[in-house]
Amino acid sequence: MAKQNAVVTGYGFYAPPRVVTNHDLEKMVDTSDEWISSRTGIKERHFAGDGETTSTMAVRAAKAALERAHMRAQDLDLVIVGTCSPDYLFPATACLVQSALGAERAGAFDVEAACTSFVSALALANGMILGGMARNALVIGAETLSRLLDFKDRTTCVLFGDGAGAVVLEASNASVGIESAVLHADGSKGELLYVQAGATKMPASKETVEQGLHFIRMQGGEVFKLAVKSMCDAAEEALAEAGVTTEDIDILIPHQANVRIIDAVARRLHFPPEKVFVNIQRYGNTSAASIPIAIAEAADQGRLKKGDRVLLVAFGGGFTWGASVMEWWGVPIPDRREKSIVDRAARTVDDLLDRVRLPS
Ligand code: COA
Repeated sequence: MAKQNAVVTGYGFYAPPRVVTNHDLEKMVDTSDEWISSRTGIKERHFAGDGETTSTMAVRAAKAALERAHMRAQDLDLVIVGTCSPDYLFPATACLVQSALGAERAGAFDVEAACTSFVSALALANGMILGGMARNALVIGAETLSRLLDFKDRTTCVLFGDGAGAVVLEASNASVGIESAVLHADGSKGELLYVQAGATKMPASKETVEQGLHFIRMQGGEVFKLAVKSMCDAAEEALAEAGVTTEDIDILIPHQANVRIIDAVARRLHFPPEKVFVNIQRYGNTSAASIPIAIAEAADQGRLKKGDRVLLVAFGGGFTWGASVMEWWGVPIPDRREKSIVDRAARTVDDLLDRVRLPS
């Protein structure tokens, strides 16, 4: 059998309709559009509406990705959701998505590496496909961070947003696919960015709620310094592992945490601005969703074309960081073109979401 590679055959994203601008935040905390824009590059972000959750946004992004890949949910082997803001501690958000989509043959689980979750999930799916354990995987990054924000803490609440992005990854001998994937962590730096209460070490109680311990806490300056170094290190390692250099990369898609971090990374890696994808101004930091949303927008805008080589690089709480080089495919594999007829007849997203029945 010819050597198989893992290629992206479909992509999709979803941003909830509620847009919150910096001017809206000025009415909630002591901040200004000028401060937020100049320090972060963010102008607005999307917040999940009533009834929207990480899983419902994930399903919408996933459905778009499956349709683009001409893939039926019943043919999926794996559903992996990268998230640090799941619907529940358990069941996994991926199980809710698997059920909603009707992916009845698929295994499903979450990957939690904060903002590095999508890159981690992609590396895992790639490994499982190359190892012959799966023929395909739906890999999603989805977050509802707005519900973990303390709107009395201006240093964090202006930074984050909600959304979901998804890719379909498939075994193929038709293309190069994912060429490298590197992941790293330093758990000694966990307290730089974390949510203290609400799990098992500090279960929810009246006191934890009163003290605001269920919200994201961050030491922004320290995170900033680590972010630039770790992203550059991971990018260089992923390039070396793929046997390529910066000049061979058509587009850099970094995690969208702060435009100053992105600019510093691009400068150090010698990427000209036109090769760097930035959409943080419209979404803020959507954590695990930021890279798959950026992938989908870059492809929709024609900035990511079949045969292009892309470098993904992320960092996040944990502390975690990672990078991946891939040749972009982005279209259905040739022998599945006719299946689109089946997909077009598929149910609407609202029909799909009706299938998930857990207490709200
Ligand atoms: N509006 C207005 N002023 C604010 C503010 C806000 N939203 N947030 C903080 N400030 C104030 C601070 O209180 C401080 O005031 P002081 O000098 O009177 O004490 C001043 O602005 C400077 O704060 P500082 O924290 O030094 O700003 P900064 O230039 O380091 O920018 C971040 C802060 C958070 C934007 C920046 O550190 C950052 O982006 N860090 C990385 C965060 C990140 O990416 N996290 C996600 C990881 S996946």
